[in-house]
Amino acid sequence: MSLKILFCASEATPFAKTGGLADVAGSLPEALAALGCDVRLLMPLYPCVDRGGDTLKIFAEWIPIPVGIHTYHVHFWQWMHPSSYPVYFMEKDEFFHRPNLYVHPLRGDYEDNAQRFITFSRAVCALCKHLDWIPDVLHLHDWQTACAAAYQHFLWRYDPAFSRVRTLLTIHNLAHQGLFPESYFSLTGLPPEAYTIEGMEFYGQCNFLKAGIAYSHRISTVSPRYAREILEPKQGFGLDGILRRRQEDLVGILNGIDADRWDPARDTLIPAPFDADRLEGKKACKDHVMQELDFPQTLRDDPLCVVVSRLVHQKGIDLILDALDDMMDLSVCLAVLGTGDPHLEKLLEQAQSRHPERVRVVLAFDEALAHRLEAGGDLFLMPSRYEPCGLNQMYSMRYGTIPIVAATGGLDDSVVDAAQNPHTGTGFKFYEHTREAFLGALKAALEAHRDAPRWRELQRRAMSEDFSWRRAARSYLALYEDMLAR
Ligand code: ADP
Ligand code: GLC
Repeated sequence: MSLKILFCASEATPFAKTGGLADVAGSLPEALAALGCDVRLLMPLYPCVDRGGDTLKIFAEWIPIPVGIHTYHVHFWQWMHPSSYPVYFMEKDEFFHRPNLYVHPLRGDYEDNAQRFITFSRAVCALCKHLDWIPDVLHLHDWQTACAAAYQHFLWRYDPAFSRVRTLLTIHNLAHQGLFPESYFSLTGLPPEAYTIEGMEFYGQCNFLKAGIAYSHRISTVSPRYAREILEPKQGFGLDGILRRRQEDLVGILNGIDADRWDPARDTLIPAPFDADRLEGKKACKDHVMQELDFPQTLRDDPLCVVVSRLVHQKGIDLILDALDDMMDLSVCLAVLGTGDPHLEKLLEQAQSRHPERVRVVLAFDEALAHRLEAGGDLFLMPSRYEPCGLNQMYSMRYGTIPIVAATGGLDDSVVDAAQNPHTGTGFKFYEHTREAFLGALKAALEAHRDAPRWRELQRRAMSEDFSWRRAARSYLALYEDMLAR
């Protein structure tokens, strides 16, 4: 009998995406299905998902979900794509029919995020019962679904059908915890004993992620190094204490990438295909993207550094801004694609005005341009302050775009420093989060770039790394089996 796994996530490709969580929630199930799991996914129904076509069918209506003194009625839809694992959507338009997933374009976090994701988390059990399909493992992702672990612990397990269900919480980013005022606890419908220092309570507030950490059977995070880092106060965001208490149940599994979607030999979003043995296409991709971004003709042979990122404190974009004048002296071009913090967006626009020849900033979320930049760049910059896993460094290695990364979290786990390991290196690392250290790594990379045979060798090595989901899916499967054996 195949293992039954229900993924619960607030975003998943190809339906809705703000960051790497969507890539993981959309592509890991496929790899698990390939290993024989009966894996399914539940996510909210957002307006970006087309309800009009034949592939989306409603199959359950007016399912009551209690939230505080209210009862909300939700509907369930199923995505009927023949080559896909089953994907279910919870429709509650009052909560999810909005232009953005989590934040109002002007006013920040939606003020009813607690109600939205309590409703979603509580709907999990209702969906399973309606389907008469009870998972062996509920695989929860981040704070938006973490409360489901508390529901299993305090409520659902007393239902004979649910008594054997095991919960796994994957933490994709400890900085986002789902923090709400204490008075919101009554919305959860959990018993008072869930609101303790060992449970959901966090300095006088409700902390949804903490509830997930406290009550899930197992916890995973998205790289081995990040699993160690979050046990220390520096990266623990106040949750290192409870994570240390649960250390035996915590494991780090490095994410994979969707090797079909991100394959330079077959990528339909890039102007010319290429692979490790035929890199001519990569040159065409560079010419194309530099022309598209209107870099002067005379600079088109200079090294092109690219960034594709959420523009937030975590990603260390300020380090690039600090180092920008020195970077220009090194005769590189820089192309940044991102959206996020308005202050960083403004600083980047100012940087472009100061260096109109060599700097291009595109403030947008543009998946196709992300692929063209990965394909056309020479170097990919990821100076993150912390990085649970990071996917772009793996995409860029696959596209022969050598990453320069801060040695933290999944960046440290996935990139081998070519400065220290000339024969096995796949990128360049810096070990202190300073402008000098970053520039040191950039200079080492540029020196390698000037040596064409060495660079080609480096590209070939980076491109032949196997970051596909197979390895990680096997680790998750072993984890599920271990959870069920206990
Ligand atoms: P995080 O989830 O912290 O943002 P990851 O590196 O795990 O970081 O994943 C980010 C994902 O979002 C990648 O697939 C990346 O290509 C994509 N992405 C980020 N910003 C943009 C953007 N402005 N346009 C297109 N894709 C983006
Ligand atoms: C988070 C992290 C990122 C990780 C992604 C997918 O958004 O910031 O490092 O790659 O989740 O797990």
